[in-house]
Amino acid sequence: MEEVTVNVTEMFRDPSFFKALREKILPQLGTYPLIRVWVAGCSTGEEAYSIAILLKEAGLYHKSLIYGTDLNPSVLEAARSGVFPLQQMKLYSENYRLSGGIKDFSDYYTANYDSVKFDKSLQEKLILSTHNLVSDSSFNSFQLIICRNVLIYFDRELQERVFRLFDNSLENLGFLALGAKETLRFSTIDKNYHQVDGQKIWKKVDHH
Ligand SMILES: C[S@@+](CC[C@H](N)C(=O)[O-])C[C@H]1O[C@@H](n2cnc3c(N)ncnc32)[C@H](O)[C@@H]1O
Repeated sequence: MEEVTVNVTEMFRDPSFFKALREKILPQLGTYPLIRVWVAGCSTGEEAYSIAILLKEAGLYHKSLIYGTDLNPSVLEAARSGVFPLQQMKLYSENYRLSGGIKDFSDYYTANYDSVKFDKSLQEKLILSTHNLVSDSSFNSFQLIICRNVLIYFDRELQERVFRLFDNSLENLGFLALGAKETLRFSTIDKNYHQVDGQKIWKKVDHH
C-alpha cells in the first residue's frame, strides 16, 4: 500500500491557498450553525490539522467538524497520533506565517526530542476514517471539500467519478478546493461551479 500511494504532505502546503481560505472562504462559512469540512485523501493529517488551526483562529472551531479520510489505514494511524517530526516545524511555521498566521506557531505543539505532539484540542473536531474515493459513496453533506494532490494520480474517467461524488456531497453554495495541478474545468459538473478569483477553489452555484 505504501508503495502504490504517494503520501507526501505538509502543513499549510501552498500557503496562498490557506490565505485564501482564511480571507475569502471562512468568512462565508461563518454564517452556518455547523460547518462540516471533508479533507479527502488527508494522508498523515497535516492538512486536516492546518484546517483545525484556521478554524480556531477564525473563531469557528467550536461549531465545526473536520472529516479526514484516506484509502490507506496506516497513514490515518499516524494522523491520529498527532505526532510529527520536529525538523519539519521550521518549514511549517514559515508556511503558517505566509498563510496569514500571526500567532507563535510553536504554541500549537509540545516538542519532545526529535518529534512534536500537536495540541489535543486540534483533534477534538477531527474524525478520521478510511474511505476510498473510487469505490465508496457519499457519507455526509459538506460546506467545504478539500481534495488536493490526490486526483493528479487518476485518469479522466476516475476523476469524473470522484467529481460526481464531491458534487453529491457538497451543499449548494459550498466550496470545493483542489491541488495546484488540478482543475474542475474539464468536468461535467463544472457548469454548476464558479471559480474563486485566481484560486483552486470552486463555489457550487446550482441553478436547478
Ligand atoms: C500526495 S497525498 C496528498 C495529501 C494531502 N491532501 C496534501 O495535499 O498534502 C495523496 C493521498 O491520497 C490518498 N489516496 C490515493 N488514492 C485514494 C483513493 N482512491 N481514495 C482515498 N484516498 C486516496 C493516498 O493514500 C495519499 O495519502
